[in-house]
Amino acid sequence: MEKWKNLRRKFFFLSIGIFIFVVVVVIFPGPDEAIPNPIRNLRRGPNSCPLETSDKTITPLKNTKHLLVSAYMDQRVNGFDIRIISIFRRDSIQPLQCLFCCAGQVSNTTTPAKIHEHSDNFGFPFATTDVMCQIPQTCRATHVSLLSQLDSVEVSSQIWLPIRNQKTKGKEEELQYDFTVCISNLFEFNNALQYAQTLEMYRLLGVGRVVIYNTSCGPDLDRLLQSYSKEGFVEMVSWPITQYMNPSRGWLFSMYGGDIHYFGQLATLNECIYRSMDRSRYVLLHDIDEIIMPYQHNSLKPLMDILQQQHPKVGVFFIEKHIYPKKPFEESKSGLLPKWRGVPSFNILERIYKWVPDGKAEYKLIVQPRMVEQTSVHLVLEKFGEEFKIPPELCHIIHAPLSTHTVQPLEKIQLDTRLWDFNDKLIPNVKNVLRRAGLLRSESKT
Ligand SMILES: *[C@@H]1O[C@H](CO)[C@@H](O)[C@H](O)[C@H]1NC(C)=O
Ligand SMILES: *[C@@H]1O[C@H](CO)[C@@H](O)[C@H](O)[C@H]1NC(C)=O
Repeated sequence: MEKWKNLRRKFFFLSIGIFIFVVVVVIFPGPDEAIPNPIRNLRRGPNSCPLETSDKTITPLKNTKHLLVSAYMDQRVNGFDIRIISIFRRDSIQPLQCLFCCAGQVSNTTTPAKIHEHSDNFGFPFATTDVMCQIPQTCRATHVSLLSQLDSVEVSSQIWLPIRNQKTKGKEEELQYDFTVCISNLFEFNNALQYAQTLEMYRLLGVGRVVIYNTSCGPDLDRLLQSYSKEGFVEMVSWPITQYMNPSRGWLFSMYGGDIHYFGQLATLNECIYRSMDRSRYVLLHDIDEIIMPYQHNSLKPLMDILQQQHPKVGVFFIEKHIYPKKPFEESKSGLLPKWRGVPSFNILERIYKWVPDGKAEYKLIVQPRMVEQTSVHLVLEKFGEEFKIPPELCHIIHAPLSTHTVQPLEKIQLDTRLWDFNDKLIPNVKNVLRRAGLLRSESKT
């Protein structure tokens, strides 16, 4: 305004006229659209967005100690539209504001974030946290970002998270998969044979997609999983948690120390539920050494169809875990099984003796993702539907751990060759995937 007044004072009317002419013609062009691109960009100025988008699964939140994982559309909780799955440092939680990118423009207003820390932190300094945001009216939001009080001025340097699950929800029958398995936190291992056998077993049981959160892995397993993810059965999600903190290898802070429960497993399980919400009818939450095995059906679908018919309001199913330890195994019987020599790890088909359940059951979960708000490992923390424990004779988990701490007397061990019912298909399928991944190098030598 000063400039204009000076000009006026100096009676440079002609200059003003020319100046206004330029402004009007260049900045407010007529309908003939004869304007060059660079000027259109100038007009958008610093309010255009998103300038910087995070394509990572872990994004540090500026000026805080927290990490953002991913943002999902979620209108199931009254008054909120978006849930940002995050990992927050519990002792330094501050108020946050949600900022939006609305069809290419930064929203002219922020909304207060509701910070909802998950209750199961097991004493660790970091915990899975949901940040809930409301989208301002008239904003067609594509990206979201969070502001702490400190950085509220530097809006233009925000890192934006894309808002996923934006498409209007299809009907249940139109979902892409019946079953998705979420495997959290792969690190360091090279157990290629176990992975190949277990993944092929999942496939025979009707699983359509396996999501694996990968911190690091050994060379043979890497080849196998690259091959699976090229094919599309496996979705690898990079999980570089070690770059941001010192994750614990245990589940309890007082025993194991570290920054977060078991490599951030809880954040990945929750992320996987939201990732699967618009595409999978059920999500199975368990580890790679576990197989949810139906005992009266040949696959998961007929089992779940019947259970769901009997219990229409149930969205969370508990499956009892039974342990199939490393020993004992009769060597005479192993002659019947293929060897796959040279492929690292153990043969799950040798796990045919199980410990008789002692009444202290542990459970894992099959959930309908759209009925779950927050999950833990053995139970769901916040949900919309009811729960049901599947009787173990109908379905239980074959848990084949790498090793077990105790040895059971023989009278507490039962023979169970249920896995062998699938051998006719399983053995050739495993051979094929190992060959495809180039892991059967020893095949030609023997
Ligand atoms: C923000 O923009 C909307 C739509 O363009 C407008 O209606 C509203 O008044 C603006 N709010 C503020 C605080 O400027
Ligand atoms: C798993 O992560 C490690 C470390 O980033 C990477 O080197 C490896 O290629 C990844 N494997 C797969 C199958 O994505």
